[in-house]
Amino acid sequence: MASLDRDRLTQLIDRERATYREQNPISAAAFEAAKGSLFGGVPMTWMVKWSGGFPLYLQGAHGNRITDVDGHTYVDFALGDTGAMAGHSPAATIAAVNQRISELGGITTMLPSEDAAWVGDELSRRFGLPLWSFSLTATDANRWALRLARLATGKSKVLAFSYCYHGSVDETVVVYGPDGVTQARPGNVGPATDPANTTRVAEFNDLASVERALAHGDVAVVITEPALTNIGIVLPEPGFLEGLRQLCTQHGALLLIDETHTFSAGPGGMTADLGLQPDIFVIGKSIAGGIPIGTYGITQAVADRINAHPDADLVDVGGVGGTLAGNAMSMSAARATLGEVLTDTAFKQMIALATRFTEGVQNVLDGFDVPWTISQLGARAEYRFARPAPRNGSESAEAGDDDLDEYMHLYTLNRGVLMTPFHNMALMCPATSEADVDLHTEVFTKAINELFG
Ligand SMILES: Cc1ncc(COP(=O)(O)O)c(C=O)c1O
Repeated sequence: MASLDRDRLTQLIDRERATYREQNPISAAAFEAAKGSLFGGVPMTWMVKWSGGFPLYLQGAHGNRITDVDGHTYVDFALGDTGAMAGHSPAATIAAVNQRISELGGITTMLPSEDAAWVGDELSRRFGLPLWSFSLTATDANRWALRLARLATGKSKVLAFSYCYHGSVDETVVVYGPDGVTQARPGNVGPATDPANTTRVAEFNDLASVERALAHGDVAVVITEPALTNIGIVLPEPGFLEGLRQLCTQHGALLLIDETHTFSAGPGGMTADLGLQPDIFVIGKSIAGGIPIGTYGITQAVADRINAHPDADLVDVGGVGGTLAGNAMSMSAARATLGEVLTDTAFKQMIALATRFTEGVQNVLDGFDVPWTISQLGARAEYRFARPAPRNGSESAEAGDDDLDEYMHLYTLNRGVLMTPFHNMALMCPATSEADVDLHTEVFTKAINELFG
Protein backbone atom coordinates (compact mmCIF):
# COMPACT_ATOMS: atom_id res chain seq x y z
CA MET A 1 0.00 0.00 0.00
CA ALA A 2 1.32 3.46 -0.92
CA SER A 3 2.28 5.55 2.10
CA LEU A 4 2.08 9.31 2.35
CA ASP A 5 5.31 11.25 2.70
CA ARG A 6 4.29 14.42 4.57
CA ASP A 7 7.52 16.24 3.69
CA ARG A 8 6.96 15.63 0.02
CA LEU A 9 3.34 16.76 0.41
CA THR A 10 4.46 20.03 2.04
CA GLN A 11 6.95 20.70 -0.76
CA LEU A 12 4.33 20.02 -3.41
CA ILE A 13 1.79 22.29 -1.71
CA ASP A 14 4.38 25.10 -1.56
CA ARG A 15 5.11 24.68 -5.24
CA GLU A 16 1.41 24.64 -6.19
CA ARG A 17 0.71 27.72 -4.02
CA ALA A 18 3.49 29.60 -5.79
CA THR A 19 2.14 28.60 -9.20
CA TYR A 20 -1.37 29.63 -8.20
CA ARG A 21 -0.21 33.06 -7.04
CA GLU A 22 1.87 33.55 -10.17
CA GLN A 23 -0.98 32.55 -12.50
CA ASN A 24 -3.63 34.70 -10.83
CA PRO A 25 -2.34 38.23 -10.12
CA ILE A 26 -5.61 40.00 -10.95
CA SER A 27 -7.67 37.77 -8.65
CA ALA A 28 -5.07 38.24 -5.89
CA ALA A 29 -5.21 42.03 -6.27
CA ALA A 30 -9.03 42.08 -6.36
CA PHE A 31 -9.10 40.09 -3.11
CA GLU A 32 -6.66 42.49 -1.42
CA ALA A 33 -8.72 45.50 -2.59
CA ALA A 34 -11.99 44.01 -1.33
CA LYS A 35 -10.64 43.60 2.20
CA GLY A 36 -11.42 47.27 2.85
CA SER A 37 -15.16 46.83 2.56
CA LEU A 38 -16.00 43.13 2.75
CA PHE A 39 -15.92 41.10 5.94
CA GLY A 40 -13.20 38.53 5.33
CA GLY A 41 -12.52 40.11 1.92
CA VAL A 42 -15.39 38.25 0.23
CA PRO A 43 -19.13 38.81 -0.23
CA MET A 44 -19.91 35.66 1.77
CA THR A 45 -17.45 34.34 4.32
CA TRP A 46 -17.33 30.79 2.91
CA MET A 47 -15.73 32.12 -0.26
CA VAL A 48 -12.36 32.16 1.49
CA LYS A 49 -12.58 28.38 1.63
CA TRP A 50 -10.89 28.10 -1.79
CA SER A 51 -7.33 26.87 -1.52
CA GLY A 52 -4.32 29.04 -2.32
CA GLY A 53 -4.91 31.98 0.03
CA PHE A 54 -7.38 33.90 -2.14
CA PRO A 55 -10.34 32.96 -4.33
CA LEU A 56 -10.41 33.25 -8.10
CA TYR A 57 -12.55 36.18 -9.19
CA LEU A 58 -15.35 35.36 -11.58
CA GLN A 59 -15.44 36.89 -15.04
CA GLY A 60 -18.19 34.72 -16.51
CA ALA A 61 -19.61 31.20 -16.62
CA HIS A 62 -21.52 29.18 -19.19
CA GLY A 63 -22.39 25.51 -19.16
CA ASN A 64 -19.58 23.78 -17.27
CA ARG A 65 -16.96 26.43 -17.99
CA ILE A 66 -15.86 29.25 -15.69
CA THR A 67 -13.61 32.08 -16.81
CA ASP A 68 -11.74 34.10 -14.21
CA VAL A 69 -10.54 37.71 -14.31
CA ASP A 70 -7.00 36.58 -15.20
CA GLY A 71 -8.43 35.06 -18.39
CA HIS A 72 -8.19 31.35 -17.50
CA THR A 73 -11.05 29.05 -18.38
CA TYR A 74 -11.75 26.05 -16.16
CA VAL A 75 -13.73 22.85 -16.49
CA ASP A 76 -16.03 23.29 -13.52
CA PHE A 77 -16.86 20.20 -11.44
CA ALA A 78 -17.79 22.34 -8.40
CA LEU A 79 -20.86 23.79 -10.10
CA GLY A 80 -21.54 26.16 -7.25
CA ASP A 81 -21.62 23.23 -4.80
CA THR A 82 -24.74 21.95 -6.62
CA GLY A 83 -26.44 25.33 -7.17
CA ALA A 84 -25.37 25.11 -10.82
CA MET A 85 -26.15 21.42 -11.37
CA ALA A 86 -28.12 22.53 -14.44
CA GLY A 87 -24.93 24.17 -15.78
CA HIS A 88 -24.13 27.87 -15.57
CA SER A 89 -26.80 30.14 -17.03
CA PRO A 90 -28.78 27.40 -18.81
CA ALA A 91 -30.47 28.85 -21.91
CA ALA A 92 -34.01 27.70 -21.08
CA THR A 93 -33.82 29.14 -17.57
CA ILE A 94 -32.43 32.44 -18.81
CA ALA A 95 -35.16 32.71 -21.45
CA ALA A 96 -37.92 32.02 -18.91
CA VAL A 97 -36.49 34.46 -16.38
CA ASN A 98 -36.06 37.15 -19.02
CA GLN A 99 -39.62 36.70 -20.14
CA ARG A 100 -40.85 36.88 -16.57
CA ILE A 101 -38.84 39.82 -15.28
CA SER A 102 -38.39 41.80 -18.47
CA GLU A 103 -41.24 41.14 -20.93
CA LEU A 104 -44.02 40.41 -18.44
CA GLY A 105 -42.37 42.24 -15.56
CA GLY A 106 -42.57 41.41 -11.88
CA ILE A 107 -39.66 40.00 -9.91
CA THR A 108 -41.30 39.86 -6.52
CA THR A 109 -44.85 40.97 -5.79
CA MET A 110 -46.27 38.80 -2.96
CA LEU A 111 -48.75 37.50 -5.57
CA PRO A 112 -48.73 33.91 -6.84
CA SER A 113 -47.81 33.30 -10.47
CA GLU A 114 -49.15 30.39 -12.51
CA ASP A 115 -45.70 28.84 -12.80
CA ALA A 116 -45.83 27.90 -9.10
CA ALA A 117 -48.58 25.28 -9.41
CA TRP A 118 -46.80 23.78 -12.45
CA VAL A 119 -43.66 23.45 -10.32
CA GLY A 120 -45.67 21.96 -7.43
CA ASP A 121 -47.16 19.36 -9.78
CA GLU A 122 -43.73 18.52 -11.19
CA LEU A 123 -42.22 18.14 -7.72
CA SER A 124 -45.10 15.82 -6.81
CA ARG A 125 -44.52 13.78 -9.96
CA ARG A 126 -40.82 13.46 -9.17
CA PHE A 127 -40.78 13.04 -5.41
CA GLY A 128 -44.28 11.85 -4.55
CA LEU A 129 -45.40 14.34 -1.91
CA PRO A 130 -48.58 16.24 -2.80
CA LEU A 131 -48.21 19.69 -1.22
CA TRP A 132 -45.36 22.21 -1.61
CA SER A 133 -44.29 25.56 -0.25
CA PHE A 134 -41.33 27.68 -1.33
CA SER A 135 -38.45 29.53 0.28
CA LEU A 136 -35.31 31.10 -1.18
CA THR A 137 -32.84 28.63 0.32
CA ALA A 138 -32.87 25.02 1.37
CA THR A 139 -31.78 26.23 4.80
CA ASP A 140 -35.03 28.14 5.21
CA ALA A 141 -37.09 25.25 3.86
CA ASN A 142 -35.51 23.05 6.54
CA ARG A 143 -35.99 25.63 9.26
CA TRP A 144 -39.66 26.06 8.49
CA ALA A 145 -40.19 22.33 8.10
CA LEU A 146 -38.75 21.67 11.57
CA ARG A 147 -41.14 24.19 13.07
CA LEU A 148 -44.07 22.57 11.27
CA ALA A 149 -42.97 19.15 12.48
CA ARG A 150 -42.94 20.34 16.08
CA LEU A 151 -46.37 21.86 15.61
CA ALA A 152 -47.78 18.73 13.96
CA THR A 153 -46.45 16.27 16.55
CA GLY A 154 -46.50 18.37 19.70
CA LYS A 155 -42.95 17.12 20.42
CA SER A 156 -39.98 19.38 20.94
CA LYS A 157 -36.85 17.70 19.63
CA VAL A 158 -35.15 17.04 16.33
CA LEU A 159 -33.00 13.98 15.65
CA ALA A 160 -30.02 14.75 13.42
CA PHE A 161 -27.02 12.67 12.38
CA SER A 162 -23.49 13.38 13.49
CA TYR A 163 -21.70 15.72 11.03
CA CYS A 164 -24.84 16.19 8.97
CA TYR A 165 -25.35 19.46 7.13
CA HIS A 166 -28.72 20.93 6.27
CA GLY A 167 -27.71 24.58 5.93
CA SER A 168 -27.32 26.93 8.85
CA VAL A 169 -30.12 25.28 10.80
CA ASP A 170 -29.36 25.63 14.52
CA GLU A 171 -30.75 22.26 15.53
CA THR A 172 -28.51 20.36 13.11
CA VAL A 173 -25.03 21.72 13.87
CA VAL A 174 -24.26 18.69 16.04
CA VAL A 175 -21.96 15.73 16.52
CA TYR A 176 -22.26 12.47 18.40
CA GLY A 177 -20.55 12.82 21.76
CA PRO A 178 -19.45 10.19 24.29
CA ASP A 179 -22.32 7.78 25.06
CA GLY A 180 -24.41 9.40 22.34
CA VAL A 181 -24.83 12.78 24.01
CA THR A 182 -25.52 15.69 21.68
CA GLN A 183 -22.58 18.03 21.28
CA ALA A 184 -22.25 21.22 19.29
CA ARG A 185 -20.19 20.64 16.17
CA PRO A 186 -16.71 22.11 16.65
CA GLY A 187 -16.71 25.73 15.45
CA ASN A 188 -20.49 26.23 15.85
CA VAL A 189 -20.89 30.02 15.69
CA GLY A 190 -22.90 31.71 18.45
CA PRO A 191 -25.59 29.10 19.04
CA ALA A 192 -28.72 30.54 20.64
CA THR A 193 -28.79 27.61 23.00
CA ASP A 194 -26.81 24.44 23.63
CA PRO A 195 -28.03 22.13 20.82
CA ALA A 196 -28.44 19.39 23.42
CA ASN A 197 -31.59 21.33 24.38
CA THR A 198 -33.08 21.00 20.91
CA THR A 199 -31.54 17.93 19.36
CA ARG A 200 -30.88 14.24 19.79
CA VAL A 201 -28.04 12.84 17.77
CA ALA A 202 -27.38 9.49 16.14
CA GLU A 203 -24.82 7.98 13.79
CA PHE A 204 -25.73 7.39 10.15
CA ASN A 205 -25.99 3.67 9.27
CA ASP A 206 -26.51 2.82 12.94
CA LEU A 207 -30.15 2.01 13.62
CA ALA A 208 -29.42 1.09 17.23
CA SER A 209 -28.23 4.66 17.88
CA VAL A 210 -31.40 5.98 16.23
CA GLU A 211 -33.56 3.73 18.35
CA ARG A 212 -31.84 4.83 21.55
CA ALA A 213 -32.44 8.48 20.67
CA LEU A 214 -36.08 7.94 19.67
CA ALA A 215 -36.81 5.91 22.79
CA HIS A 216 -36.90 9.16 24.79
CA GLY A 217 -40.25 9.81 23.11
CA ASP A 218 -39.65 13.52 22.54
CA VAL A 219 -38.48 13.58 18.91
CA ALA A 220 -40.79 15.41 16.51
CA VAL A 221 -38.76 14.76 13.39
CA VAL A 222 -35.73 12.90 12.11
CA ILE A 223 -33.92 15.02 9.54
CA THR A 224 -31.47 13.39 7.19
CA GLU A 225 -30.02 13.27 3.74
CA PRO A 226 -30.59 9.78 2.32
CA ALA A 227 -26.81 9.63 1.84
CA LEU A 228 -24.58 12.05 3.73
CA THR A 229 -22.92 14.37 1.22
CA ASN A 230 -21.43 17.12 3.29
CA ILE A 231 -18.76 15.12 5.06
CA GLY A 232 -17.72 13.30 1.93
CA ILE A 233 -20.29 10.92 0.52
CA VAL A 234 -21.47 8.33 3.03
CA LEU A 235 -23.83 5.93 1.29
CA PRO A 236 -26.63 4.21 3.22
CA GLU A 237 -26.09 0.55 3.91
CA PRO A 238 -28.79 -1.90 2.79
CA GLY A 239 -31.79 -1.71 5.13
CA PHE A 240 -30.74 1.49 6.88
CA LEU A 241 -33.25 3.86 5.27
CA GLU A 242 -36.06 1.32 5.49
CA GLY A 243 -35.24 0.77 9.16
CA LEU A 244 -35.20 4.51 9.74
CA ARG A 245 -38.68 4.84 8.24
CA GLN A 246 -39.97 2.03 10.46
CA LEU A 247 -38.44 3.48 13.60
CA CYS A 248 -39.92 6.90 12.90
CA THR A 249 -43.39 5.41 12.48
CA GLN A 250 -42.99 3.25 15.56
CA HIS A 251 -41.92 6.20 17.75
CA GLY A 252 -44.32 8.81 16.34
CA ALA A 253 -41.60 10.93 14.75
CA LEU A 254 -41.87 12.42 11.27
CA LEU A 255 -39.20 11.64 8.68
CA LEU A 256 -37.72 14.60 6.82
CA ILE A 257 -35.61 13.68 3.80
CA ASP A 258 -33.40 16.51 2.55
CA GLU A 259 -32.42 15.89 -1.09
CA THR A 260 -30.75 19.22 -1.74
CA HIS A 261 -27.57 17.40 -2.78
CA THR A 262 -28.69 13.80 -3.29
CA PHE A 263 -30.94 14.99 -6.13
CA SER A 264 -27.84 14.04 -8.12
CA ALA A 265 -29.06 10.42 -7.85
CA GLY A 266 -31.66 10.97 -10.57
CA PRO A 267 -34.67 13.02 -11.68
CA GLY A 268 -36.59 11.94 -8.56
CA GLY A 269 -33.57 11.81 -6.27
CA MET A 270 -32.98 8.84 -3.99
CA THR A 271 -36.59 9.13 -2.85
CA ALA A 272 -37.85 7.91 -6.23
CA ASP A 273 -34.93 5.55 -6.79
CA LEU A 274 -35.35 3.71 -3.50
CA GLY A 275 -39.07 4.27 -2.93
CA LEU A 276 -38.47 6.25 0.26
CA GLN A 277 -41.57 7.48 2.07
CA PRO A 278 -40.73 10.77 3.76
CA ASP A 279 -43.37 12.76 5.63
CA ILE A 280 -41.53 15.94 4.72
CA PHE A 281 -39.16 16.48 1.81
CA VAL A 282 -36.74 19.34 1.26
CA ILE A 283 -34.80 20.41 -1.80
CA GLY A 284 -33.23 23.63 -3.03
CA LYS A 285 -30.20 25.06 -4.82
CA SER A 286 -30.30 23.42 -8.24
CA ILE A 287 -33.98 23.23 -9.13
CA ALA A 288 -34.18 26.82 -10.40
CA GLY A 289 -30.91 26.70 -12.35
CA GLY A 290 -29.06 28.81 -9.77
CA ILE A 291 -31.78 31.40 -9.12
CA PRO A 292 -32.42 31.34 -5.35
CA ILE A 293 -35.02 28.79 -4.30
CA GLY A 294 -35.81 26.18 -1.69
CA THR A 295 -38.93 24.15 -1.07
CA TYR A 296 -40.50 21.69 1.32
CA GLY A 297 -43.14 19.13 0.43
CA ILE A 298 -45.50 17.51 2.92
CA THR A 299 -47.91 14.61 2.88
CA GLN A 300 -51.64 15.19 3.21
CA ALA A 301 -51.47 13.59 6.67
CA VAL A 302 -48.89 16.15 7.82
CA ALA A 303 -50.95 18.97 6.28
CA ASP A 304 -54.00 17.76 8.21
CA ARG A 305 -52.05 17.72 11.46
CA ILE A 306 -50.79 21.25 10.83
CA ASN A 307 -54.25 22.47 9.90
CA ALA A 308 -55.58 21.08 13.16
CA HIS A 309 -53.87 24.10 14.81
CA PRO A 310 -55.92 27.09 13.62
CA ASP A 311 -54.06 29.36 16.07
CA ALA A 312 -50.72 28.73 14.40
CA ASP A 313 -49.81 31.81 12.39
CA LEU A 314 -48.80 30.38 9.03
CA VAL A 315 -49.68 33.51 7.07
CA ASP A 316 -47.93 36.34 8.85
CA VAL A 317 -45.18 36.51 11.42
CA GLY A 318 -45.34 33.00 12.92
CA GLY A 319 -41.82 32.03 11.84
CA VAL A 320 -42.41 30.09 8.62
CA GLY A 321 -42.18 32.62 5.81
CA GLY A 322 -40.07 35.14 3.93
CA THR A 323 -41.06 38.20 1.92
CA LEU A 324 -39.34 37.23 -1.32
CA ALA A 325 -40.14 33.50 -1.03
CA GLY A 326 -42.20 32.03 -3.85
CA ASN A 327 -41.47 35.06 -6.02
CA ALA A 328 -42.39 35.00 -9.68
CA MET A 329 -38.79 35.01 -10.88
CA SER A 330 -37.82 31.89 -8.87
CA MET A 331 -40.93 30.11 -10.02
CA SER A 332 -40.31 30.82 -13.70
CA ALA A 333 -36.73 29.64 -13.30
CA ALA A 334 -37.80 26.41 -11.56
CA ARG A 335 -40.40 25.67 -14.23
CA ALA A 336 -37.88 26.02 -17.04
CA THR A 337 -35.07 24.20 -15.21
CA LEU A 338 -37.18 21.21 -14.21
CA GLY A 339 -39.13 21.16 -17.46
CA GLU A 340 -36.28 21.64 -19.93
CA VAL A 341 -32.85 21.28 -18.34
CA LEU A 342 -32.66 18.73 -15.50
CA THR A 343 -34.69 16.20 -17.47
CA ASP A 344 -34.62 12.39 -17.37
CA THR A 345 -32.42 12.39 -20.47
CA ALA A 346 -29.98 14.88 -18.98
CA PHE A 347 -29.66 12.81 -15.80
CA LYS A 348 -28.88 9.65 -17.79
CA GLN A 349 -25.99 11.41 -19.48
CA MET A 350 -24.76 13.08 -16.27
CA ILE A 351 -24.82 9.79 -14.37
CA ALA A 352 -22.90 7.98 -17.14
CA LEU A 353 -20.24 10.71 -16.95
CA ALA A 354 -19.98 10.40 -13.17
CA THR A 355 -19.50 6.66 -13.62
CA ARG A 356 -16.68 7.38 -16.07
CA PHE A 357 -15.20 9.86 -13.58
CA THR A 358 -15.42 7.31 -10.75
CA GLU A 359 -13.85 4.53 -12.82
CA GLY A 360 -11.04 6.83 -13.90
CA VAL A 361 -10.19 7.76 -10.33
CA GLN A 362 -10.60 4.18 -9.08
CA ASN A 363 -8.16 2.88 -11.71
CA VAL A 364 -5.55 5.39 -10.59
CA LEU A 365 -6.08 4.56 -6.90
CA ASP A 366 -5.77 0.84 -7.71
CA GLY A 367 -2.73 1.38 -9.92
CA PHE A 368 -0.79 3.19 -7.19
CA ASP A 369 -2.45 1.24 -4.34
CA VAL A 370 -3.49 4.49 -2.68
CA PRO A 371 -5.61 3.88 0.45
CA TRP A 372 -8.40 6.24 -0.58
CA THR A 373 -11.90 5.52 -1.86
CA ILE A 374 -14.26 7.15 -4.31
CA SER A 375 -18.04 7.04 -3.89
CA GLN A 376 -20.56 7.84 -6.59
CA LEU A 377 -24.05 9.16 -6.07
CA GLY A 378 -25.66 9.42 -9.49
CA ALA A 379 -24.18 12.47 -11.20
CA ARG A 380 -21.82 13.19 -8.33
CA ALA A 381 -18.64 11.50 -7.18
CA GLU A 382 -16.19 12.20 -4.43
CA TYR A 383 -12.96 10.71 -3.18
CA ARG A 384 -12.10 10.47 0.47
CA PHE A 385 -8.73 9.83 2.09
CA ALA A 386 -9.73 6.54 3.70
CA ARG A 387 -10.10 2.88 2.70
CA PRO A 388 -12.58 1.31 3.26
CA ALA A 389 -15.09 4.15 2.75
CA PRO A 390 -16.31 5.69 6.02
CA ARG A 391 -19.66 4.33 7.26
CA ASN A 392 -20.88 7.38 9.14
CA GLY A 393 -20.27 11.08 9.66
CA SER A 394 -17.85 10.72 12.56
CA GLU A 395 -15.67 8.23 10.69
CA SER A 396 -15.71 10.42 7.61
CA ALA A 397 -14.77 13.50 9.64
CA GLU A 398 -11.75 11.58 10.93
CA ALA A 399 -10.67 10.87 7.36
CA GLY A 400 -10.47 14.61 6.61
CA ASP A 401 -7.02 15.95 5.75
CA ASP A 402 -6.65 19.68 5.10
CA ASP A 403 -3.21 19.31 3.52
CA LEU A 404 -4.33 16.67 1.06
CA ASP A 405 -7.41 18.74 0.28
CA GLU A 406 -5.30 21.78 -0.48
CA TYR A 407 -2.85 19.81 -2.60
CA MET A 408 -5.54 18.15 -4.72
CA HIS A 409 -7.52 21.37 -5.13
CA LEU A 410 -4.57 23.48 -6.15
CA TYR A 411 -3.06 20.81 -8.36
CA THR A 412 -6.26 20.46 -10.36
CA LEU A 413 -7.01 24.20 -10.34
CA ASN A 414 -3.57 25.07 -11.66
CA ARG A 415 -4.24 22.71 -14.57
CA GLY A 416 -7.69 23.95 -15.51
CA VAL A 417 -10.00 21.77 -13.40
CA LEU A 418 -12.16 23.20 -10.64
CA MET A 419 -13.22 20.84 -7.82
CA THR A 420 -15.62 21.92 -5.10
CA PRO A 421 -13.82 23.69 -2.26
CA PHE A 422 -15.74 21.61 0.27
CA HIS A 423 -13.74 18.37 0.18
CA ASN A 424 -13.28 16.63 -3.19
CA MET A 425 -16.63 16.51 -4.87
CA ALA A 426 -17.18 16.49 -8.62
CA LEU A 427 -20.61 17.03 -10.10
CA MET A 428 -21.63 16.58 -13.75
CA CYS A 429 -24.08 18.91 -15.46
CA PRO A 430 -25.80 18.62 -18.84
CA ALA A 431 -22.88 20.46 -20.48
CA THR A 432 -20.14 18.18 -19.08
CA SER A 433 -18.43 16.01 -21.72
CA GLU A 434 -16.38 12.82 -21.72
CA ALA A 435 -13.34 14.90 -22.66
CA ASP A 436 -13.85 17.03 -19.52
CA VAL A 437 -13.96 13.92 -17.36
CA ASP A 438 -10.87 12.52 -19.07
CA LEU A 439 -9.02 15.78 -18.46
CA HIS A 440 -9.71 15.35 -14.75
CA THR A 441 -8.49 11.74 -14.86
CA GLU A 442 -5.29 12.85 -16.56
CA VAL A 443 -4.61 15.62 -14.04
CA PHE A 444 -5.57 13.38 -11.11
CA THR A 445 -3.13 10.71 -12.35
CA LYS A 446 -0.30 13.25 -12.43
CA ALA A 447 -1.16 14.54 -8.95
CA ILE A 448 -1.14 11.02 -7.51
CA ASN A 449 2.04 10.11 -9.37
CA GLU A 450 3.87 13.11 -7.93
CA LEU A 451 2.68 12.28 -4.43
CA PHE A 452 2.92 8.50 -4.36
CA GLY A 453 4.87 7.51 -7.47
C1 LIG B 1 -28.30 18.71 2.31
C2 LIG B 1 -28.34 20.19 2.34
N1 LIG B 1 -29.43 20.81 2.81
C3 LIG B 1 -29.51 22.14 2.85
C4 LIG B 1 -28.47 22.92 2.43
C5 LIG B 1 -28.57 24.41 2.51
O1 LIG B 1 -28.72 24.97 1.26
P1 LIG B 1 -28.63 26.55 1.13
O2 LIG B 1 -27.20 26.90 1.40
O3 LIG B 1 -29.04 26.80 -0.26
O4 LIG B 1 -29.55 27.13 2.11
C6 LIG B 1 -27.32 22.33 1.95
C7 LIG B 1 -26.17 23.14 1.51
O5 LIG B 1 -25.13 22.69 1.16
C8 LIG B 1 -27.24 20.94 1.90
O6 LIG B 1 -26.17 20.31 1.46
